[in-house]
Amino acid sequence: MAKEKGIKVIEDLPGIGPTSSEKLKAAGYETLDSIAAAAPAAIAEVTGMSLEAAKKAVDAAKQSTTLEFSTASDVYERRKSLGAIKTGAASLDEILGGGVETGGITEVYGKFASGKTQLGFQLSVNVQLPHDQGGLEGAVLFIDTEGTFRPDRIEGIAKSAGLDPKKVLDNIFVVRATTSDQQVLTAERADKLIKENNIKLIVVDSLMSVFRSEYMGRGALAERQQKLNAHIHKLQSLADTHHLVVYITNQVMDNPAILFGDPTTPVGGNIVAHAATTRLYMRKSKEEKRIVRLVDSPNMPEAEAVIKITPMGIKD
Ligand code: GTP
Ligand code: MG
Repeated sequence: MAKEKGIKVIEDLPGIGPTSSEKLKAAGYETLDSIAAAAPAAIAEVTGMSLEAAKKAVDAAKQSTTLEFSTASDVYERRKSLGAIKTGAASLDEILGGGVETGGITEVYGKFASGKTQLGFQLSVNVQLPHDQGGLEGAVLFIDTEGTFRPDRIEGIAKSAGLDPKKVLDNIFVVRATTSDQQVLTAERADKLIKENNIKLIVVDSLMSVFRSEYMGRGALAERQQKLNAHIHKLQSLADTHHLVVYITNQVMDNPAILFGDPTTPVGGNIVAHAATTRLYMRKSKEEKRIVRLVDSPNMPEAEAVIKITPMGIKD
């Protein structure tokens, strides 16, 4: 195959002008690689171009990108250089291999009141701690889709962690997203905010709630999944580019197809399941106790930890 010459950026692709390139970027396709890996139908959908033209653009993107290899040692070095935020509970940090890792998406799913939001609050405080105390000395972008962000609770957790509550609150940028468009656009436009404020944690609490309420009925499901896919793709790229933690919460639905064991499944389907690097399932136990199961991890075995939600925050 002839090598396409001179294709260095998205705008160099055949048929992609400034308008299409803007649309692609807004949908999470920011690099030639992301277009090379995309289905032509998805590119056609996003840009409004014909399927034929989209195929040409994707083919050109494929030929323009070179495959880069890393040795296993490189990968190992990179893994070791990843940062992590401690959760407040040593048992949970241990099953996670040190804490919640940067560079990927950590999803926590569970029923109401299982503690998903509380863990998000705790991480929003802990990320601000010095490195030697389990933090990343960074700020937070908190995308609140359910209206459950509670500054007073953050204040309490911050005091317990020995931090100045005012400073902690000043370092949490809260966006109340009531539509999926607001939610998606917040992530799309986050790069500048992240760089300027040294954001090291993005919380999306919860990922699916507005998507679910907006896209009711099966007719719109494909459209929803496509938008969700681009959103998650963008979150993943933020985690990767800025070496930060993306923490997303997810609801569960009862799954009557599962007759034995715990008949609940996280919503969002395979798109969410495959995108999350690390997945945790949280459930209520007695009183303030919660059981957290590590369901999926790149490097740690499946395991469970018992934590407590105390007045001072998450503890063992
Ligand atoms: P949904 O968003 O409804 O799906 O639930 P969630 O998983 O986000 O639950 P959340 O993290 O909000 O946990 C709620 C539970 O945390 C409550 O039932 C309390 O047990 C505990 N909790 C919430 N706020 C406080 C607080 O201020 N102090 C203490 N000690 N516990 C709290
Ligand atoms: Mg919640």
